[in-house]
Amino acid sequence: MAVLDFDWLWDALPGSFQTPIAQNLLAVLGLLVLARAALLPVLRALRGIFSFFLRPGKNLKRLGEWAVVTGATDGIGEAYAHELARKGLNIVLISRTQAKLDKTAGEIAAKHKVNTQTIAFDFSQLNASTAGPLRARLANLDVGVLVNNVGVSYDHPAFFTELSEAKLLDLIQLNITSTTLITQMILPGMVERKRGAIVNVSSYSGMRPTPLLTVYSAAKGYVDYFSRALELEYSSKGISIQSVTPLLVVSKLSKVRAALTIPTPTAFARQAVATIGHDSRTLGYWAHALQSWAISLLPEDMSDKLLMNHHLSIRSRALKRANAKKGE
Ligand SMILES: NC(=O)c1ccc[n+]([C@@H]2O[C@H](COP(=O)([O-])OP(=O)(O)OC[C@H]3O[C@@H](n4cnc5c(N)ncnc54)[C@H](OP(=O)(O)O)[C@@H]3O)[C@@H](O)[C@H]2O)c1
Repeated sequence: MAVLDFDWLWDALPGSFQTPIAQNLLAVLGLLVLARAALLPVLRALRGIFSFFLRPGKNLKRLGEWAVVTGATDGIGEAYAHELARKGLNIVLISRTQAKLDKTAGEIAAKHKVNTQTIAFDFSQLNASTAGPLRARLANLDVGVLVNNVGVSYDHPAFFTELSEAKLLDLIQLNITSTTLITQMILPGMVERKRGAIVNVSSYSGMRPTPLLTVYSAAKGYVDYFSRALELEYSSKGISIQSVTPLLVVSKLSKVRAALTIPTPTAFARQAVATIGHDSRTLGYWAHALQSWAISLLPEDMSDKLLMNHHLSIRSRALKRANAKKGE
């Protein structure tokens, strides 16, 4: 039953509680609850300002000589590779296309004066037999930072039954299998050296069920839980594991243009890298933290409906474009 007014609540209390002392204690308790409700958003905002704008990043070179970045030739991964090289780490770039790897590695070496290595590997082919050569290439490297960035999303929002078997397998391979197996290749060395940081790029879609991106959302949810549980296992061994859950960032995958709330990969990586070793779970960028907070103020069923309608409208525009192309 809902509490309608204070008198009703007071009368409902057993007689032995209806004393002036109890009344004062309840008043103080009420004030504390109100103060907490008013102070929490202020503290959260101050913490956000401190962590995204004022707190100095950790000295990542102390974790090891090399950083390994997957999906390193475009978008967020390429920006992480540049930012980590700017911090003085040598970079191992892993992606699918050798020509793009050569170009990115050359740019990083020239700009930041660090060493680079490239590994051309198609993560959709990662399995027990293809993992061996990759593991051998990464063995004996003093890896201080691993960024599990490679990932794939839908071409546009779609119902689960509209996805092909190949697309489903890609979503699982590139988001889940690659993150898990590369971690298994690199973490043992970090444990031996008692230092290191692993950054797993999840997504805001992994923090909440996201309709019409269902498999992407579930796969990124795996990445988020994987990272958080691993952090609980290994933080006491000198290794930090971070789950990064961005909203939209400009890239080929997101197909969106830059805006106040949509950073370029470079702007995103600049702030996200500064959180490594500080935060075990981060949205990575100040405007994303603000957006996530604003969304959290809405009742959940309302934000679920808004998200569904938003994705339905993107889906119908994408289908119209595809049909128009077919008719050309
Ligand atoms: N962009 C966003 O708005 C956003 C938001 C939240 C989370 N994320 C996550 O951030 C990560 C990076 O996204 P992004 O937008 O930067 O992606 P992107 O611009 O599409 O870059 C993808 C990178 O991954 C490589 N890659 C793709 N398929 C591969 C494969 N099968 N094997 C090996 N490498 C492959 C690409 O190299 P090649 O060109 O050689 O294939 C490229 O270097 C993903 O995990 C994504 O889910 C992105």
